Amino acid sequence: METTSLPGPTGIAQLRYLRSIFRKPQPVLDELRAQFGPVCQLGFGPAKVAIVGDPAALKELFATSSESFRWDHKFNVLGFVVGDSSLIVSDGTDHRRRRSSVQSAFSRRRLNGWIPMILEQTDRTIDELLTRPPGTDGTVDLAPIARSLVLAVTVRAFFGERFATRADEIGALFERPQAYLESPALRQFPHPVPFTARSRVRADRRALDAIIDAEIAVLRQSEADDPLDILGTLVREGTLTDDEIRDQVVTLIGAGYNTTAASLSWMLWRAVLDPGTWDNLRTEADQVLGPTSRDTSTAGVATLAQLELANRVMRETLRLHPAGVIAPREAATDVHLCGRVIPKGTLILWSAHLAGRDPHSWPDPLRFDPDRFRHQTPEQAAVIDTAWVPFGHGARNCIGFALAQMELTLMISRLAQRLDLTTSVDHPPTPVGMVVNRPDGGTPMRVAPRSADPT
Ligand code: HEM
Repeated sequence: METTSLPGPTGIAQLRYLRSIFRKPQPVLDELRAQFGPVCQLGFGPAKVAIVGDPAALKELFATSSESFRWDHKFNVLGFVVGDSSLIVSDGTDHRRRRSSVQSAFSRRRLNGWIPMILEQTDRTIDELLTRPPGTDGTVDLAPIARSLVLAVTVRAFFGERFATRADEIGALFERPQAYLESPALRQFPHPVPFTARSRVRADRRALDAIIDAEIAVLRQSEADDPLDILGTLVREGTLTDDEIRDQVVTLIGAGYNTTAASLSWMLWRAVLDPGTWDNLRTEADQVLGPTSRDTSTAGVATLAQLELANRVMRETLRLHPAGVIAPREAATDVHLCGRVIPKGTLILWSAHLAGRDPHSWPDPLRFDPDRFRHQTPEQAAVIDTAWVPFGHGARNCIGFALAQMELTLMISRLAQRLDLTTSVDHPPTPVGMVVNRPDGGTPMRVAPRSADPT
């Protein structure tokens, strides 16, 4: 039998939850689940919010037609930064057309072609890191290092080798927009006033547009008919207008760079704190990647497949620390989930954080244990498939999921192979960030070259 209302707090208590869920979502989600279960609701009138974190309900949500939801909804603040034609805020046929163009640019063959570049860029970043003096407490914050590594890979993959030296310039133009999206909702209220945070974000976007436009013009003159970079592929493919291409490129960099970098930071914490894991990652990397002096140009898809522990460390980290703790979509119709109805107009916040810590799916859910992903029975594999959703599922899943997993697996392997990392703390930091979940206080660690470096 179907009931219409979901459980949830009532009266004034809702305001506290509503305010804090958009500021620091993790503790609020945990508290709501403890009190009302993994599918609950908050708010009233046009500000009605449903939280969906139960794996079975998520399975139904992802299987529901995307026509039942809207991504260009009344609470959408992303459009201001990524542009109105971005696939992330598009619906219906526009979304399908834009997504299909981008998806063809993310073909497996193109992704695999980036494997040597990712390893080579990781080596460059490690070389630079080893020349950097530590802070007064002897540690180096690896969070900005992870960001510049992922950014450099992203810029090379999106714009090609000619742009390798412009990563910092492009990254700087994303800093203010990302910070703005994390600011309180009231500060994001649309207005045209100059000399404000919003006007500076507009200026950054114009500067980015100018860079992309200039590159599109160069590409239109170029002869290459099978480019390895994303921008070249989108231009060559010819189904998107230049305005659309620009919005997709800004979207892809914006959606892909800080998410992957924050995940790498969490992986470093987890792999260094879990006894034996850093050493085991190193042993695996030695076996699969060979000596660190070896040329990386022959590394390919087989290399990646053999980095089996690194892959499990990545999956286990993303289970506990998904970069997107909640992801929004609006119900465009009444949505039926596990015998409940979420009314049309509700903002649905589905949560990879709740699913990844669901006690019915994951024994001892808060324990970091990469072995969960090893030797699964078909029943366990089915449970994991339903409850492990850091990239979503279905028609609106993360378009960069394969790239992100590939980057994280290769990067952690190379870092473990070449660096000794230690920390004086015995547990990972608390999470911070509504748009991108990252470790509060960064990733300060003692860094040294591997003690017995192989030749
Ligand atoms: C660890 C890294 C990443 C995580 C955890 C992540 C997670 C997600 C999640 C949860 C969604 C929303 C799915 C939904 O609303 O149902 C999403 C969407 C998206 N992601 Fe990622 N993402 C990551 C990296 C990337 C990368 C590297 C790119 C591109 C280079 C990317 C591009 C996108 C795009 C374009 C969408 C919107 C897809 C659509 O609406 O059709 N992401 N991602």
